[in-house]
Amino acid sequence: MKTFTLTTAIDYANGSPHIGHAYEKVLSDVIARTRRMQGDEVYFLTGLDEHGQKVQMTARKQGIEPQAFCDQVAVEFRRLCEVLLISNSDFIRTTEPRHKDLVRSILQQLFDKGEIYQAEYSGYYSPRQEQFLQEKDKVNGEWPEIFGEVVEITEKNYFFKLSQYQDWLIDFLKQNEDFIVPRFRQKQVLEFLKEPLNDLCISRPKERLEWGIPLPFDEDYVTYVWFDALTNYISAPGYGTDDFEKRWPADYHVIGKDILLPPHSVYWPIMLHASGIELPKHLLVHGWWNISGAKMSKTLGNVVDPFELADKFGPDALRYFFMREMTVGQDSDFTQEQFLTRYDKELANDYGNLLSRLLNMGARYAEGKIPAATVDEQPEQDLRKLWEETHVLVLEKYEAFEFHRGLEQVFAFLRGCNQYLDIRSPWKLAKSDDSADQEKVLTTLAVIGEGLRLASVLLAPVLPSVTEKVQGLIGIEPATRFAGNLTWGESLAGKSLGEKTILFPKHTD
Ligand code: MSP
Repeated sequence: MKTFTLTTAIDYANGSPHIGHAYEKVLSDVIARTRRMQGDEVYFLTGLDEHGQKVQMTARKQGIEPQAFCDQVAVEFRRLCEVLLISNSDFIRTTEPRHKDLVRSILQQLFDKGEIYQAEYSGYYSPRQEQFLQEKDKVNGEWPEIFGEVVEITEKNYFFKLSQYQDWLIDFLKQNEDFIVPRFRQKQVLEFLKEPLNDLCISRPKERLEWGIPLPFDEDYVTYVWFDALTNYISAPGYGTDDFEKRWPADYHVIGKDILLPPHSVYWPIMLHASGIELPKHLLVHGWWNISGAKMSKTLGNVVDPFELADKFGPDALRYFFMREMTVGQDSDFTQEQFLTRYDKELANDYGNLLSRLLNMGARYAEGKIPAATVDEQPEQDLRKLWEETHVLVLEKYEAFEFHRGLEQVFAFLRGCNQYLDIRSPWKLAKSDDSADQEKVLTTLAVIGEGLRLASVLLAPVLPSVTEKVQGLIGIEPATRFAGNLTWGESLAGKSLGEKTILFPKHTD
């Protein structure tokens, strides 16, 4: 059976992970978990992009070899995956032999087919930054100070014949209107393709850049950036093996908007097409996180550390915020206040508090067990109706990657559960001697248990560890599928409730 395959971008190994990296992994993980709960087998790839000028320079500044530097960075990025509960199937590093070998073999094949040629390349060059520049790098018509003296140089390089595939790519995009999600991004690519494409320079001479994969047909050169990085999507799933047949084509490459054009929407489809490899089915392009309205940057000193947030609030809370706050495809703003508001009002109040109320009252009125529901009146019927509407809608929203809307609905249902509890007010009814009132007390607890069970199934892809905890506290095993677990009325009667637990502790600072 073909797996549902999704990938993230592989992060540059020249710094520490920030919330942009964290978001992309969480978004992909939520999709992966949702698919598993729909019954798909999932292959989910993430990893690290380790070659290139910046990595070489950063390592040199620290006085260590690039490989040793990358090894350190890889530890941090792998830890990010663990801390954020990312359920990736593999973690590719572009310095691994399985990757380097494939990059070289694809390059050799393209070279043999005449798709790669050598030519002179002229351009502005900054010896200080060891980097080619373009007119657009000028600020007010001048080269910024950081580039030092800029010179024009000419050097021989290798080029991939991108331009000859321009018409093919335009046709492909026109015939596959949903290749890029959201659609307005596909329009941008078609707009870009109205201008003629240049062939792609894919090499750097070794005297200028050592830290790369040597070209198999000219060992004096290494391959430059995108040819190396993009190939991870096929090297990791095992190109040339049976595994690859199961895992390819990828269903979604999840990427940020900055690397859509031209790498993922132009270079990658053409590289694959020229190599006779099937194209991925879709690119899912997300927007960027800004920080209190500003671009996140080391220079501004506003980089948000995902480890710190996960440590303080728990990984589930960070995952929830990412998914609830951002509309997939659009930019979003990260502010501490908004994070805390969602944490307090939604996670702690609507969800955490509902559980606490059940555990408290269960201990007080039902000997720590979930009772049977025996009353079915208007309040019960209203809540059940709310659930029927909610779960269908939420699955639709998840399917369309509108996680923010899906979560909004689940939390509206949780608020409905809290209101139901207030309407029934079992703490008042419990004082009555009437046996009908006692039945209502017990029914209320049963209904709340069921509400928590159902909401937790829908929340599981976003809050994997918290929902597991909740399920344990109401005496059930974690649900691994949506199917069969979303129908109201599974009796939890007799299940033991756990000890009083605060799911989302208050934060005073
Ligand atoms: N190494 C390349 C990708 C190669 S993929 C074959 C790269 N790395 S990156 O570290 O700069 O970015 C990795 C991913 O993080 C990209 O998809 C990028 O869009 C995303 N983000 C980086 N900063 C971001 C935000 N501020 N907000 C959201 N995502 C951001 O590009």
